[in-house]
Amino acid sequence: MEFKNVILTKDKGIGTLTINRPKALNALNSETLAEICDAVQVVAKDDEIIVLIITGAGEKSFVAGADISEMKDMNAMQGREFGILGNKAMRSIEALEKPVIAAVNGFALGGGCELSMACDVRIASTNAKFAQPEAGLGITPGFGGTQRLARLVPMGMAKELIYTTNMIDAQEAYRIGLVNKVVALEDLMATAIKLANDMIKNAPIAVKLCKQAINRGMQVDIDTAIAFEAELFGVCFATEDQKEGMTAFVEKRKEKNFKNK
Ligand code: CAA
Repeated sequence: MEFKNVILTKDKGIGTLTINRPKALNALNSETLAEICDAVQVVAKDDEIIVLIITGAGEKSFVAGADISEMKDMNAMQGREFGILGNKAMRSIEALEKPVIAAVNGFALGGGCELSMACDVRIASTNAKFAQPEAGLGITPGFGGTQRLARLVPMGMAKELIYTTNMIDAQEAYRIGLVNKVVALEDLMATAIKLANDMIKNAPIAVKLCKQAINRGMQVDIDTAIAFEAELFGVCFATEDQKEGMTAFVEKRKEKNFKNK
C-alpha cells in the first residue's frame, strides 16, 4: 500500500513505520492519522511482520504533536472528530497483536509523546525531548495523554508534566520510567532492531498472547485478569510452537524452529 505521509517497510520479521512529514517535524494531521490506521491494518495482516518499530523521519523529531495549523480553526465537533481519529490511530497500535517499539529520535511532544506511549516499549536517542504542551495551547492532551502517561509514570509526575507543559530530556524520561533505554542517535535504530530480534527469537503466538494478557489484564480486577491469563496459558498448549519450545529444552537444543503456528 502506498502512503503519502508515512513509510512502511519490512525486513527479516521487522516492520518499520516512519512518520514522514519532516517539514512539519512529522506533526500528525488528519491525513497522517488515517494513514497510520491503514498501515497498522497492513501490519496486522502481514505474517512476515512479527514486530513493528515506529520512528520519525529525519534527525530532529519523532513527532512534534498533532498538527496545530489544522487544529487552529476547528470548532467543537471538528475537534471531537479529530480526537476520535487520533485515538483510533493510537488504540490501533496499542491493540495490534504484535509488539510495537517506539524509536524516539527527537521531539516527542503532545501527540508525539502520545504516539510513543501507545507503543509497548520506548527507546529514546539522547536528543529526544518529551512534553505534553497542550495546556499552553488551550486544550487538554487529546490522543490519550491524560490516560496513558498517568498509567506509565507515577501519577504526580504525569500531572506535573501535563499541568506545567515543561519539556524533559531523554535522561529524565528514563529516570521516571517513560523510556526503557537512552542511546546515541546513530545507535537508535540498531538498538531498536536488536530489541525486536530479542522478541522475534521467541514464539510469536506466545508473545502476542503476553501482550493481550498484560493490556487486558491491566484494565480489570486481579481475579478477572488472572482468569484471563489462565485461558491464554491453556491456549498456548494447542500451538505447535509450545511443543517445539519445550521439546528443544528437553533435548538441550539451543536452536528452536518456531513456526508461528
Ligand atoms: N503542528 C504543525 N506544525 C508544526 C508542529 C505542530 N505540532 N510542530 C512543528 N511544526 C512546524 C512549524 O510550524 C515549522 O513550520 P514552518 O517551517 O512552515 O514555519 C516547522 O514545523 C519547523 O518547526 P520550528 O520552526 O518551530 O522548529 P524549532 O526547532 O524552532 O522548534 C519545536 C521545534 C520546539 C518542536 C516547535 O516546532 C514546537 O514547539 N512545535 C509544537 C509542539 C507542540 O506544541 N506540540 C503539541 C501539539 S498539540 C497536540 O499534540 C494535541 C494532542 O494531544 C492531540
